[in-house]
Amino acid sequence: MKFQGSENYVATQDLMLAVNAAITLKRPLLVKGEPGTGKTMLAEEVAQALDMPLLQWHIKSTTKAQQGLYEYDAVNRLRDSQLNTADSAERVKDIRNYIVQGVLWQAFTADQPVALLIDEIDKADIEFPNDLLRELDRMEFYCYETRELIKAKHRPLVFITSNNEKELPDAFLRRCFFHYIKFPDADTMKKIVDVHFPTLKDELLTAAMKTFYDVRNLPGLKKKPSTSELLDWLKLLMAEDIPLEALQSADNKVSIPPLVGALLKNEQDTTLFEKLVFMNQRNR
Ligand SMILES: Nc1ncnc2c1ncn2[C@@H]1O[C@H](COP(=O)(O)OP(=O)(O)O)[C@@H](O)[C@H]1O
Ligand SMILES: [Mg+2]
Repeated sequence: MKFQGSENYVATQDLMLAVNAAITLKRPLLVKGEPGTGKTMLAEEVAQALDMPLLQWHIKSTTKAQQGLYEYDAVNRLRDSQLNTADSAERVKDIRNYIVQGVLWQAFTADQPVALLIDEIDKADIEFPNDLLRELDRMEFYCYETRELIKAKHRPLVFITSNNEKELPDAFLRRCFFHYIKFPDADTMKKIVDVHFPTLKDELLTAAMKTFYDVRNLPGLKKKPSTSELLDWLKLLMAEDIPLEALQSADNKVSIPPLVGALLKNEQDTTLFEKLVFMNQRNR
């Protein structure tokens, strides 16, 4: 079982190494990186390449670790017990009818090995990773309501992503294999764009990439545009048939690119960029 990249996803050598290291070690792969650098997509692509179903758990600030294991639906049970029909009376007898299985339960009890994505773990509160330590380590947990031990039939391949909004606890880090997806250099970015827009003209791509990296390297930006923003922007440029000249100024000075709203997502950054362009033009 080895991951060797895929048609839709450009994986650098070190990223492939990291995926395979996590598979060999049988440890979760913790992937960090700026938003939009392909962390979520990595899990989807690896799962597909290795022919495993992917179970996804998207974490929010309110998500609790227990929800990934199971939840007991007491409200439904109470309603059934008050309904007084033959059906509901039958259901009430077995508490298992009110256990809602979480993604870990599903992953552990699946008949074939599955991939499990715990996406954006840094969104949850600080206790969340620690609360899952034991389950991910031992690949089992206990359901008190039904008094059964849920033990993984096959060890799932676990991906955990983080946008780095919060530090993760040391005990948690110790159990993962870690990889940081660096922001793609120009060559890698060209390959990524090529996967999405194979017919894009070379000149337009070169000009757009220059503008993109100029914007990205602007000191003091609050939110740097990332891969997915570049892709959005290119899509718009093509849809609107923006001519090459609109991206290139003859004297190589910076100008405000068309549809810049696809790249810069807050007014401070737009203002900063406009100021720079203005200063540049005055210095002509
Ligand atoms: N290496 C890559 N190869 C192909 N497409 C990529 C790559 N990295 C990012 N993308 C594009 O960027 C989009 C955002 O990626 P995503 O996985 O959602 O980022 P993240 O989870 O890191 O925020 C994807 O839908 C994909 O279109
Ligand atoms: Mg993501």
